[in-house]
Amino acid sequence: MKRMETHVTVVILAAGLGTRMKSRKAKVLHRAGGKMLIEHAVATACRLAAPERVFVVVGHQADRIREAVQTPGVGFIEQTEQRGTGHAVLIGRRVLEPLGGYLVVTYADGPLLRAETIRRLVTRVEESGAAGALLTAMLDDPTGYGRIVRGHDGRIRAIVEQKAATPEQLRIREANMGIYCYRADLFWKHAAEIRDDNPAREYYLTDMVEILGRSGHPVEAVLVEDAREALGINNRIELAEADRILRQRKVSELMLAGVTIEKPETVTIDPDVSIGMDTVIGPFAQILGRTSIGEDCRVGACSIVKDSELADDVEVGPFTFVGSSRLGRGANVGPFARLRFGNQVDESAHIGNFVELKNAHLGPGAKANHLAYLGDAEIGAKSNIGAGTITCNYDGMAKHKTTIGEQVFVGSNSTLVAPLEIGSGAYLGAGSVITDAVPADALALGRARQILKPGWAAGRRKRVRSEAK
Ligand code: UD1
Ligand code: MG
Repeated sequence: MKRMETHVTVVILAAGLGTRMKSRKAKVLHRAGGKMLIEHAVATACRLAAPERVFVVVGHQADRIREAVQTPGVGFIEQTEQRGTGHAVLIGRRVLEPLGGYLVVTYADGPLLRAETIRRLVTRVEESGAAGALLTAMLDDPTGYGRIVRGHDGRIRAIVEQKAATPEQLRIREANMGIYCYRADLFWKHAAEIRDDNPAREYYLTDMVEILGRSGHPVEAVLVEDAREALGINNRIELAEADRILRQRKVSELMLAGVTIEKPETVTIDPDVSIGMDTVIGPFAQILGRTSIGEDCRVGACSIVKDSELADDVEVGPFTFVGSSRLGRGANVGPFARLRFGNQVDESAHIGNFVELKNAHLGPGAKANHLAYLGDAEIGAKSNIGAGTITCNYDGMAKHKTTIGEQVFVGSNSTLVAPLEIGSGAYLGAGSVITDAVPADALALGRARQILKPGWAAGRRKRVRSEAK
């Protein structure tokens, strides 16, 4: 979606603690759908306005929230005492008023709200010439929400908070979602008329509807189509629900773009992940962080792929972990492999079960098919690493590198003591402990010689039996 012109300013209210989370951490630092709630709010705001026109009102754990917002340009307004939603906006007057244009207010605890929906509010104000517009929803159970009171002409007259509502008003199902767009000039002209003359002694932003209406500037209501979009997070049950919905949105978006996702309700895909056409994602897979996956890939059941880049035609078998790694076209890893970080597995290379890689580079067509640890290793094209091979990269003090050329055959159960270089075409006998460089095309054996005693076992059996008699 295109960003709106520079005349929209967004204020995100995030000063509250969120007591019902029962957490030492401010509510908006909790995560749903792969991001902290505050990150969602800022990302949504930045789709409507330039970051320089996005402000976060912070109070509880202000420093931690500032730290969590990584978008350059976004401003912060400190609200040391939480004296109500109206107060939260009013204290920003000095920076906000000169910006003019439209003033949009959102909450940081509503991660499901789409930028498109807020844009509808702005468009309504632009087109209707009203002083402002607010988002409402028809709820089966509006308990806790401010109710929308309309006059005989159908126009919105006021918002009445739950605590102050009459029994008749409590029956109103149309609820205030707490998301507003005001014409900044009219908002600031009348802002000082918000008073704390209510039982809670708070400055209610909701009072603005009545205040503007009194002075001849009606406010419009925009009904949200999907009431779930306005779900505000108050506790961890709602947090999990928001997570579920955000995950579902991401997998639906991918499926509509040509990705097959098996048992999508079990799959977790972070918002910044991209996946190409005809790729198949198995049940319970998790694709996290900044991962990009090409076309015609397969990520098997229960695998985790994080911050990685997969070219086309890559196969990640079930129960495999891939972290901060790059897999070339046609590479095949797993099942049950662990690529910790910093690995590059080139075109058509194979990593099999119970193989661990760390900072390893396997050239095109190289293979390590079973039970190995390859750390800080450079392995040339088409080399074969036998089962049980270990690169001994750590001497108790420092890490060392193992360099293996092309088309090397490393016999099973080899122990490669780094730093070490193996030339191309070399052959290492199974069970060898290799401590010294091996030149190209040489055979290296580093194991005890076999002793053979013909008939020894039969002789022993005979001896034991005759002793038993
Ligand atoms: C508010 C609305 C209510 C609406 C509901 C929707 C008012 C008076 N009422 O009620 O009509 O139905 O939202 O969710 O506005 N905050 C601050 N500083 C403050 C107070 C609040 O930053 O001084 C932040 C909170 O952290 C929160 C948001 O504003 O993110 C809303 O505050 P909250 O106290 O939850 O308002 P509600 O009582 O839910
Ligand atoms: Mg609330």
